[in-house]
Amino acid sequence: MPFPYVLLSAAVSLDGCLDDTGPSRLLLSGRADFDRVDAVRASADAILVGAKTVRADNPRLLVNSPERRAARLAAGRPEHPLKVAVSASGELDPRARFFRTGGEKTVYTTDEGAERLRRAGLPGTGTSVGADTGSGTGTGTVSVVPLGGELDWRRLLAHLHDVRGVRRLMVEGGGTVHTQLLQQRLADELQLVLAPLLVGDPRAPRLFGPGAYQRGRLRLVETRALGDVVLMRYEPTEPGAGGDAAPADRHWLRIACELAGECPPSRTAFSVGAVVVAADGTELARGHSREAGDPVVHAEEAALAKIDPGDPRLPGATVYSSLEPCARRASRPRPCARLILDAGVRRVVTAWREPDTFVESADGTGVLAREGADVVVLPEFESRAKAPNRHLL
Ligand SMILES: NC(=O)c1ccc[n+]([C@@H]2O[C@H](COP(=O)([O-])OP(=O)(O)OC[C@H]3O[C@@H](n4cnc5c(N)ncnc54)[C@H](OP(=O)(O)O)[C@@H]3O)[C@@H](O)[C@H]2O)c1
Ligand SMILES: [Zn+2]
Repeated sequence: MPFPYVLLSAAVSLDGCLDDTGPSRLLLSGRADFDRVDAVRASADAILVGAKTVRADNPRLLVNSPERRAARLAAGRPEHPLKVAVSASGELDPRARFFRTGGEKTVYTTDEGAERLRRAGLPGTGTSVGADTGSGTGTGTVSVVPLGGELDWRRLLAHLHDVRGVRRLMVEGGGTVHTQLLQQRLADELQLVLAPLLVGDPRAPRLFGPGAYQRGRLRLVETRALGDVVLMRYEPTEPGAGGDAAPADRHWLRIACELAGECPPSRTAFSVGAVVVAADGTELARGHSREAGDPVVHAEEAALAKIDPGDPRLPGATVYSSLEPCARRASRPRPCARLILDAGVRRVVTAWREPDTFVESADGTGVLAREGADVVVLPEFESRAKAPNRHLL
């Protein structure tokens, strides 16, 4: 069952609290970190919170930066990610900012919760999982999805993936939601910000509660100081599942394979998708073969063309390409392996080595490796990458 990539995001005090018990929300992070969170929001297809966070903080859950909203629109995505609230009780006020500000909204709830929401006058209630197409027409529509007597995270995530098309889900708390997703091994990444202050109140909400966690240590992938707070990014390790590949690599390569499916069909060239991702997990650009009416453009070429060549994030970035970057081509002077090296990128993750269909003994990997780039092949994605190219093989 495919689920979205699940990214947990939270800020905590030195004593592990998400908030104090005062009436207004405790500000844990500063301006630089709020801007970082805004960029993560802009990269997500959906943002999810628990109902207590909606009731306590009354958040809007929008992308603040006009540039990031414009970039989403230019890429054919909605201006704001889908906003998702999770509530068993259905105790949500229709006047909450969650509902009254922009973006599409979905509430996952129980049958009882859906009934309560309907009585509260929330539009679009009573839609069953089977009947909810998720294609709210105008902007800002609310849909309510009852999941039976109790909430099941796997069903919820499968619905977000299959019906709402969510591939990247940012979870912004609170602790109850974070705890369940981590304990049920549904989290792919944790972005934790540590703030230099102490709450000290035993009644204050904690990030992670008691229960059965996976044993062992999480993998630390990045630390970053942002003003006086520190961001730590972790990947919960999952021995066995999905081989040795990092969840983030699997996530972005899956997206590249999906982009390959969007290429206009061709009898003379492969359908390929590519995404360029900075070391901190920010998507820099994506592309696919023959996009925007250019009959010969390659995926990696299309994606790299959207990035400022002086972008300081390029040397640390990874190119995810459903097919190994080309080493030779007739339609352009520089093949994609060369474009990647010239852009300064030194890491490529791909699903499939190029066969001899159009170019004999193409060796993009060799070209990249000879100049010090690291090429990782994840064969578990090969059949997905080949799917839109079956007629050529
Ligand atoms: N520092 C941060 O980064 C940060 C981020 C977010 C929130 N917060 C703080 O965290 C606090 C809220 O956290 P919290 O842990 O108390 O609550 P929460 O996780 O925001 O929400 C819990 C609620 O979500 C619903 N829910 C969660 N899991 C469910 C399940 N499996 N089945 C059905 N319903 C489920 C229930 O809603 P119903 O009660 O409606 O049934 C439950 O009471 C607030 O003080 C907020 O300020 C801090
Ligand atoms: Zn190419």
